[in-house]
Amino acid sequence: MEEVVTRGNKVVYRDGDSLVKVFNDAKPASDVFNEALNLARVQETGINTPDPVSVSQVDGDWALVTTFIPGRTMAELMDENPDKEDQYLMQFVDFQLDIHAHTAPLLQRQKDKYTRMIQSLTDVLDATTRYELEMRLDGMPNETHVCHGDYNPSNVIVAEDGTLYACDWAHATQGSGACDAAISYLLFALTSKERAEKYLDLYCKKSDTPKQIVRTWMSIVAASELSRRRHEADEFLLQWVDVVDYQ
Ligand SMILES: Nc1ncnc2c1ncn2[C@@H]1O[C@H](COP(=O)(O)OP(=O)(O)OP(=O)(O)O)[C@@H](O)[C@H]1O
Ligand SMILES: [Mg+2]
Repeated sequence: MEEVVTRGNKVVYRDGDSLVKVFNDAKPASDVFNEALNLARVQETGINTPDPVSVSQVDGDWALVTTFIPGRTMAELMDENPDKEDQYLMQFVDFQLDIHAHTAPLLQRQKDKYTRMIQSLTDVLDATTRYELEMRLDGMPNETHVCHGDYNPSNVIVAEDGTLYACDWAHATQGSGACDAAISYLLFALTSKERAEKYLDLYCKKSDTPKQIVRTWMSIVAASELSRRRHEADEFLLQWVDVVDYQ
């Protein structure tokens, strides 16, 4: 097997026509089966994704096997061709809107997921802040669009014929596209504020979404990301939580 990438808690291999994502021993089996189930549900809607193949164990560690999509990630292409950034961002947003145009009634609900994440942040956010965020979340509209939940250029593969595929469905939910856009914005902003703003302009324009709605979601998802990311991003994320008025 040929190694594709190594991350903190996993190694991704290519094995012929298959992509094998091997998680380390700390990964609960339920998370791996959940990612596989999300992928299967999303793939059945017709969105371009790798095909699910199997969940298995490799030397005692859980592994998710999917088909391998030959091509480059949009992150690699953006790095290699800075002059084409605008063109890639357009394709990136168009594909995200295509994803949001699908529904998958059995996917986890976005509001349930973020409520749970906010409630778990007892060591980072005080009760007042958590309550404010929960109230904001509660006030957001109930929508049922397929949302990737970690939509960034490293999770978009541009196949050799130019078709886009989205991988990495561990965080998928059904809910509001504006919430999904808030996550993408924050992921861009971690490395480039300028690219993040460009992305947001495009998303709001193409989807006819008011920026204020995405900004409200940012406070909610920034808080939730606190429970997921390694701590180097905490300060950055906390500034987006931005609920000082209520303390
Ligand atoms: N089916 C696939 N075909 C080709 N390349 C893939 C495929 N799935 C993943 N990759 C490559 O492997 C990389 C990592 O895979 P993936 O995004 O699923 O894991 P991850 O980012 O480490 O997961 P997470 O974001 O959940 O921590 C991708 O950025 C992409 O380069
Ligand atoms: Mg990824």
